[in-house]
Amino acid sequence: MKAIVITSPGEPEVLQLQEVEDPEIKHDEVLIKVEATALNKGDIYQRKGLYPPPKGASLYPGLECSGTIESVGRNVSRWKVGDQVCALLAGGGYAEKVAVPAGQVLPVPPGVSLKDSACLPEVACTVWSTVFMKSHLSSGETFLIHGGSSGIGTFAIQMAKHQGARVFITAGSEEKLAACKNLGADVCINYKTEDFAARVKQETEGRGVDVILDSVGAPYLQKNLDSLNVDGRLFIIGALSAMAAEINLSSLFARRLTIQASTLRGRNPEDKEIIVREVEKNVWPAIMEGKVTPVVYKYFPVCEAAEAHRLMESSKHIGKILLFPLLYRS
Ligand SMILES: NC(=O)c1ccc[n+]([C@@H]2O[C@H](COP(=O)([O-])OP(=O)(O)OC[C@H]3O[C@@H](n4cnc5c(N)ncnc54)[C@H](OP(=O)(O)O)[C@@H]3O)[C@@H](O)[C@H]2O)c1
Repeated sequence: MKAIVITSPGEPEVLQLQEVEDPEIKHDEVLIKVEATALNKGDIYQRKGLYPPPKGASLYPGLECSGTIESVGRNVSRWKVGDQVCALLAGGGYAEKVAVPAGQVLPVPPGVSLKDSACLPEVACTVWSTVFMKSHLSSGETFLIHGGSSGIGTFAIQMAKHQGARVFITAGSEEKLAACKNLGADVCINYKTEDFAARVKQETEGRGVDVILDSVGAPYLQKNLDSLNVDGRLFIIGALSAMAAEINLSSLFARRLTIQASTLRGRNPEDKEIIVREVEKNVWPAIMEGKVTPVVYKYFPVCEAAEAHRLMESSKHIGKILLFPLLYRS
């Protein structure tokens, strides 16, 4: 088969289309003929050599895909050859075919095209497993998302609104703020021109928000804690810059705050299966009702993966960037 190979750590041009071995499936896996894959920030870090695939995972980038099942392992009962699906991957989406544990596969939600469903598993599993399963955001609560226009953010806004939360976002341009507003965000803060912590206080009459989803990390840590309500929960899913930070513990004591962090990719298949099944139960109905829709900024043929990476690194996009396999015939 053909796949995009990271020929050495570096700039986007290290992504090269090459002929590689077909993946082999284990007894509890299915083989998917890939229709589309979507970019995630992790792909950029992997290309730069900063985010190696977990042990046993495909070496090719790509944390999610959609496609048609081409073969099933002998222990797999739910899926059959020909099923149209999307899947959460530990890697390997930038390829013609990918092997994935059956527990990480989801049906394509009715109303969403096979191609666009590729951009759902990573954001849905990340947001559901953090904001809802761990931070327990619930109806009537307030929720701040940093990077509201990101792939993660555009999904989180819609899901949180659907669950009845009041949603605050930060983003770095007026165009991005407007896009987040269109998706349902209630309070949109330009972090380049405004102090988000001050604005959160102003909008909540001094209380702060109940839950924050953060991917900025250390530089935002104290300000995030300052922006939380009593019993507030901060969930950190990324660190765009520094990893180390000092905090004032008095804010944690006084307002009984919780700080959590996690990554999805490194979890074992059993954990991922639990999350994927929770997503199917709780998120898929919202997608089927049209309350949550994929936000696709641009499609690229896989042979232009380097161009797609450049776009993601430029931060001009709003929502997800998709790769589809037109190239395999070119
Ligand atoms: N832990 C996990 O399991 C997990 C899973 C998936 C993703 N993630 C993390 O989630 C984050 C988003 O991922 P993605 O794939 O959705 O990325 P993405 O679409 O590339 O979006 C990243 C966004 O971050 C925004 N940003 C940069 N600096 C910011 C700041 N100081 N304040 C607010 N926004 C800022 C940029 O928008 P502006 O132009 O507005 O700055 C950009 O749109 C990444 O950090 C990624 O590593 C974690």
